[in-house]
Amino acid sequence: MYVLGIESSCDETAAAVLFFEDGNGVGAPPRVLSNVVASQEDIHSRFGGVVPELASRRHVELIDPVIQAGLKDASLGLDDIDGVAVTRGPGLVVSLLVGLSAAKAVSWARDLPLIGVNHLNGHIHSLYLDNPLPSNGGEAAPGASGGPPPFPHLAFVASGGHTDLYRVEGHDEVRHLGGTLDDAVGEAYDKIAASMGLGYPGGATVDRLHGEFRSGRAPGVEPLELPRPFLKDRPYQFSFSGLKTAVLNYLKENAYYRSDSSLPPWARPQKLPREAVLSVAAGFQEAAVEVMTEKVDWTARAENLPAVSLSGGVAANSLLSERLRERSEASGWSLHLPARRYCTDNAAMIACAGGYALRKNGADAYRDFLEIDADPAWEL
Ligand code: KG4
Ligand code: ZN
Repeated sequence: MYVLGIESSCDETAAAVLFFEDGNGVGAPPRVLSNVVASQEDIHSRFGGVVPELASRRHVELIDPVIQAGLKDASLGLDDIDGVAVTRGPGLVVSLLVGLSAAKAVSWARDLPLIGVNHLNGHIHSLYLDNPLPSNGGEAAPGASGGPPPFPHLAFVASGGHTDLYRVEGHDEVRHLGGTLDDAVGEAYDKIAASMGLGYPGGATVDRLHGEFRSGRAPGVEPLELPRPFLKDRPYQFSFSGLKTAVLNYLKENAYYRSDSSLPPWARPQKLPREAVLSVAAGFQEAAVEVMTEKVDWTARAENLPAVSLSGGVAANSLLSERLRERSEASGWSLHLPARRYCTDNAAMIACAGGYALRKNGADAYRDFLEIDADPAWEL
């Protein structure tokens, strides 16, 4: 069974083709035949965040060529495809509609079932892509570890738009345990990075600067002391806006801001002394990672779950995976990470979630595709 996946919920236009062996819900994980991602980072970086109107316009330009490239890379045509999976939400509505309209057109023209996929369930399914267990004789994909997680497991999805904990009982049995009350962790990374003039998105840059600090290449620099928002009475929830504000206050107190700017505070870049940038990056990363590590460990133990998966753009963070690996050994749950190329938004993870649903429920369950609507706030 060949499944075409389409993703356009934020600022990546993506298409992928996956091959699923026949079977009923179980069986070998799918094979990724193609995975095309066109990023719009260059368009949005100068604004310090994604501009919805610009994103949707670019999606319109890219969606057809990206789908064609996905099919070509897989050496397949539309005649070979058995089903289409598309992100229906959550995300920017004007962006979602572009992918959804393209997916409806393909399904209509070829009489194919169309599966509307929740973007977060896509991230959870990034763990089932090219992620064979080394102990099963498979080579782990570069950057991946632990193999696909067993059921049940705890899924921690951390990205620019989400910081969520899920109890995953099966491919289509997912229960939300908690999430952020304000900013997503990636959003907080991006905003503090933008406020220091480090560009957008800035998570990977802050991670790299923290690495520089840790390797001893910044003698005399101390990590900025920042609060750890543990929310003791709400163990499954997160809050990152206080941490972000503490950084902004530090920058203001030290007059690292241009006060005459009409831009919002986080988008007012000012040249900082290198030591200050390293100190903020190190302090922020240590605080954010400590909170995430404690909460993930606490939740896994409280829910009595034997395995934890980490996905979303922030899964690429080097300190987070290191700390979780240490904690997994101490606490006795296994840790599962996707291959790095599937951490950030892509269509292979959407095709994966959609393909498992199609294999389980059959094509007839997905014939009412004209009824499918974009849902920008769809909760999993
Ligand atoms: O999953 P993703 O591609 O898009 C969303 O759905 O948001 O995640 C992008 C986010 C951005 O906020 C980016 O700054 C963050 O992931 N990110 C990182 C790292 N690499 C990407 N955050 C911390 N450390 C990293 N190494
Ligand atoms: Zn995402």
